[in-house]
Amino acid sequence: MSTEPLYVKPNVRIEGLVNQFVAWTHVYTPVSGAMNLANLLFPIMDSFVQRPEVHAAAVANPKMKGGFFVNADLSRVDEVRDLRDRIARDDAAALAFAGAIKGAEDLLRAQATGYDLSPLYAQLPPELRGYVELVYDVNHHPSLRFLEPLLYRSPVFRRDREAIELSLDDGSEPPFILSTPRLAHPDHLQLPLRLDHAGIDELFATRTTPRTFDEISKALEVGTGEQDRLLRTLLTTDPAVPADRHIDGGGRIRYFGHACILLQTPSVSILVDPFISSNHAAGDRFTYVDLPDRIDYVLITHAHQDHIVLETLLQLRHKVGTVVVPRNGGGHRQDPSIRLYLEQVGFTVREVDDFDELAFDGGRIVAAPFFGEHCDLDIRAKSSYWVHLAGKGVFIGADTSGLESELYRRMRTGIGETDLAFIGMECDGAPLTWLYSSLFTQPVPRRMAITRKLSGSNAAQATGIVDQLGAKEAYVYAMGQEDWLQHVMATSYTPESYQLLQVAEFLDNCKQRGVHAEHLLVRKELRW
Ligand SMILES: [Fe+2]
Ligand SMILES: [Fe+2]
Repeated sequence: MSTEPLYVKPNVRIEGLVNQFVAWTHVYTPVSGAMNLANLLFPIMDSFVQRPEVHAAAVANPKMKGGFFVNADLSRVDEVRDLRDRIARDDAAALAFAGAIKGAEDLLRAQATGYDLSPLYAQLPPELRGYVELVYDVNHHPSLRFLEPLLYRSPVFRRDREAIELSLDDGSEPPFILSTPRLAHPDHLQLPLRLDHAGIDELFATRTTPRTFDEISKALEVGTGEQDRLLRTLLTTDPAVPADRHIDGGGRIRYFGHACILLQTPSVSILVDPFISSNHAAGDRFTYVDLPDRIDYVLITHAHQDHIVLETLLQLRHKVGTVVVPRNGGGHRQDPSIRLYLEQVGFTVREVDDFDELAFDGGRIVAAPFFGEHCDLDIRAKSSYWVHLAGKGVFIGADTSGLESELYRRMRTGIGETDLAFIGMECDGAPLTWLYSSLFTQPVPRRMAITRKLSGSNAAQATGIVDQLGAKEAYVYAMGQEDWLQHVMATSYTPESYQLLQVAEFLDNCKQRGVHAEHLLVRKELRW
């Protein structure tokens, strides 16, 4: 029995956790992580412990979808209280750090009035000293510049909070990742492993290369008894990978849903914003088994939770060459370094700035500007990409907004001709406070927040991109419509939704121009 070759089942899911919450950017990176913990996750747990029935009612109300409520049974109050208390004890440094940021910004608001900042260092809360520089911009607005690499080596960042959870995807929707901790589940295997643990790679490499149970169990440091039983439920003797995961000539694009696109030639594979359904049984979509055995480049467009998706990245790490990420501005908490984040999680990362190029066998990748979609916050860690492979130019816009169509005219002369353009049209996104509220140290007026949204291109902006790039084909994507990503996106469209009306208008505009255009959903394959 123990020498039998075993493969990971095609529908295995993994979630990377910190303090049992899904480890997306705002949870994992040290400054935003501390503020997210103190100003969002801790109050949510507190509120659930005080009034669990309010949370249960909100979770059951479709109008509250995407709200910050704990999606757990009322009987789990003690577990959430224990988690809250454990965090208060073990993560006291992070909670104090978040409080110190508030204290420092109160100090700046009162005393940094355009004059010499050096006397203020002595007044900084001790938790911040040595971790921040005080700076003005050229309009004399003061701010804290954080030394993020040093904070990864501080008590604010603790690796022993990390864990992974393995389970089987049966098509049911996991709880919303921004609000609900992963509590113990009788069918889920939670292991206290760091997210860069090599056992994760050994497990997922068995999609194509089988190992014995003992080898897999040892790699994941699984104990006997219940953990052993749960691990066995994740393994099978039947490999599921189809031969057409590779191609032997030309070029191919496979759309995996949402913003996830695979570009392939026989010699290179490039996967953009990996977010892949593990519900293999659904049968209507590409899943992990449809990926090639090697992914040379992963391109990340920005740090939102639907574009850096650890539940997918961890499954792929064993076969990924380089993760290409946009460089951040450095030091602003709303703009953490994607490179540092993904290096901690065990990837080889290459940072790019606008118009940096990477050549590969038979083509090149160009980082291109990404305007907007971040509520007008000064965030530089965002990039669209232009890829040339197998003779075609492909623009991958993700959530970039066509705020300034002139940019694309200039890009066309500077970079080259675009055959295919992928454009995100989630053009009525959530307000500023939905994703960023925990980073502010004073209240954001509601009327301000709703003018600053996480919005991609509307019809006019998308049309401007197509016109100025001279794209021959256009594909609308990244709308968050697929059912398997609702635990991350929490979108709720109706046929009358502004976004869908804008898509229809854009498709019409393209038709009038003789540009082939489609609204992608779930799955698509393009071959040339
Ligand atoms: Fe986004
Ligand atoms: Fe998005």
